[in-house]
Amino acid sequence: MVVGLGTGSTVAFLLPALAARGLTLRCVATSKRTEAAARSLGLRVEPFGAIEHFDIAIDGADQITPDGWLIKGGGAAHTREKIVAATSDRFVIIADSSKPVVALHAPVPVELLEFGLASTMRRLAPIRLRDVPRSPDGGVIADYHGSLDDIEAAAGLLSRTAGLVEHGLFPPALVSDIIVATGDQVHHRSL
Ligand code: A5P
Repeated sequence: MVVGLGTGSTVAFLLPALAARGLTLRCVATSKRTEAAARSLGLRVEPFGAIEHFDIAIDGADQITPDGWLIKGGGAAHTREKIVAATSDRFVIIADSSKPVVALHAPVPVELLEFGLASTMRRLAPIRLRDVPRSPDGGVIADYHGSLDDIEAAAGLLSRTAGLVEHGLFPPALVSDIIVATGDQVHHRSL
């Protein structure tokens, strides 16, 4: 199988469990952190290159609503994560019980182009730069603090904003499964 590997502290638990199964996998990592960790466990990691689809991608999330909207990007990897999710037959979210929410709340991680950055930020106000290194693709990481009362409208606004590379609102249409662990119970939802 061709497998997309997400990024974050939850995915850090996934990698050894996946490696221990001894499967023949071709993996693509969404960050250098994940790539290094996966390689050190013996997983075969390839560049995205010409891969046309992933059989599955597994990733964490910062917030999960009952209808399957996500906020991702707490680790600033949401642009690559969204591309991998969009290329995957199944996009599976794994999370602990702190991640489900009744409704999404700000901030939403965003990746911005350096070119015209001040203009983009004015058009996206309220927004704050995050004090983290650039993305591996050279993007500037910031957090959007605008209203999320209407998630579809907020996602549309962010997607239409020139200078914004990608935002961390993931719609339910991208997600196939959500697996949430609470203590030793696991709740699995298919979308
Ligand atoms: C990485 O940018 C994020 O999208 C992570 O998937 C998300 O922030 C969840 O991270 P944790 O598993 O560390 O909570």
